[in-house]
Amino acid sequence: MIARNPDTNRPRRAGALVLAAAVCAMVFATDAALAREETGKAKADLTCAVCHGPAGNKPISPDIPRLAGQQYDYLVQVLNDYRHGRRENAIMSTIAQQQLNDKEIRELAEYYSVQKGLTVKR
Ligand code: HEC
Repeated sequence: MIARNPDTNRPRRAGALVLAAAVCAMVFATDAALAREETGKAKADLTCAVCHGPAGNKPISPDIPRLAGQQYDYLVQVLNDYRHGRRENAIMSTIAQQQLNDKEIRELAEYYSVQKGLTVKR
């Protein structure tokens, strides 16, 4: 049944408009995330893959964590922690302080968080 405006007895269009706007917003949001992911990949390949491996999935030594599939929020938090001295590691603190800004941190986090990584069976 089509919802009708009680005053004019015409079908209501507002719902469709709101829906169209929501779909547009989603498409733009997805585009933005995709752009961040691509820029993140370029930086990751250049700067991080040498230790964390391609897509953050094959670290070169056991003391280097896998990044693939890690939560976006966790990655943003931890990279900011290195950057602002709340977590310290000779290598990562230097990289975060000298080579990463807020935008790059979000891009790298976006990229690594959508890579296939370890999964936990539930
Ligand atoms: C020279 C090797 C090296 C490079 C290059 C490097 N990392 Fe790391 N990364 C490490 C090591 C070692 C650790 C573990 C540090 C610790 O114990 O705090 C680490 C830890 C991390 C962590 C914490 C992960 C966790 O599970 O807590 C993140 C996130 C991270 N690196 C991101 C990056 C990003 C992004 C880049 C590129 C901009 C990068 N790393 C480049 C060696 C490296």
